[in-house]
Amino acid sequence: MKIRKAIIPIAGKGTRFLPATKEIAKEIIPIINVPMIHYIVEEAVNAGVEQIIFVTSSGKYSVEDYFDRNQELEAFLERNNKTKELELIKRIGSMVSVTSVRQKEQLGLGHAVLMAKEMIGNEPFAVLLGDDIVINDIPAIRQLMNVSEENHGAAVIGVMEVPPEDTSKYGIVKGDFITDRTLRMTGMVEKPSSKDAPTNLATPGRYILTPEIFSILEKIPRGAGNEYQLTDAINVLCQKKDVFAHKFIGERFDTGNVHGYLDATIDFALKNPETRDQMISSIRTRLNKYGITL
Ligand code: UTP
Repeated sequence: MKIRKAIIPIAGKGTRFLPATKEIAKEIIPIINVPMIHYIVEEAVNAGVEQIIFVTSSGKYSVEDYFDRNQELEAFLERNNKTKELELIKRIGSMVSVTSVRQKEQLGLGHAVLMAKEMIGNEPFAVLLGDDIVINDIPAIRQLMNVSEENHGAAVIGVMEVPPEDTSKYGIVKGDFITDRTLRMTGMVEKPSSKDAPTNLATPGRYILTPEIFSILEKIPRGAGNEYQLTDAINVLCQKKDVFAHKFIGERFDTGNVHGYLDATIDFALKNPETRDQMISSIRTRLNKYGITL
């Protein structure tokens, strides 16, 4: 069954990005001049997703507005013959159909996904977290869809290898490899220490899930951090049905924290011919200014 819908939960408080997130949705913070959320939605659209469901909280209107038409701005750009900018703005406004649902209390990622139950209905769907940008010609979420399609529409969790000292930052999967990059999962552990981690395969925020997950999310108790954890629900799903983990190909930037954000900014500036020379010259000048030799 074709995956048509993607949930993007954006209701979190973004505490790692304070003070900006006191007043601005984290997802709207740009990498150079493109909001982070643009990359996530673009990944889903390039993978064939037709409808995006944002799970929002107060103060997140700017994310929905970003993907809407802005007729006033369009008219202004048209009057001023700014054709290139006009095309860009129109393209974003018609990129994909967007709906949203509120998560009234931030009770965790599992709870956020459950909020979209009615909008998903009885079909498999994608979940993408806005904190992780993954760059690859074949979108990471499309790679998971392919594995799902090859396995009768099963749930597929995107994973990547992390160093042992980082297992405590992620959900870590358990399972056995059935191909080079795919495992049949037996379970998942939330943020284990390196000595308790069953593998070094972490889940950075790309999932294909089946609708059974909703009835599980309705029943699970609160888990780590006193929140309803998607990890706990996936663990239960693994006991009932085939669930796979797939090591997707792509470069992943953890833009939910300041260091990852900085890394993405430098990378994106260097790979874009319009900003490359400026970035190189700025880095040279600043290293000189602060007496740093590499
Ligand atoms: P995080 O745990 O990274 O939280 O949530 P956060 O609020 O975005 O950021 P920090 O940690 O406070 O800096 C992972 C994803 O799940 C969403 C977040 O918006 C983020 O995309 N989320 C989390 C919700 O939508 N609702 C929740 O209750 C919790």
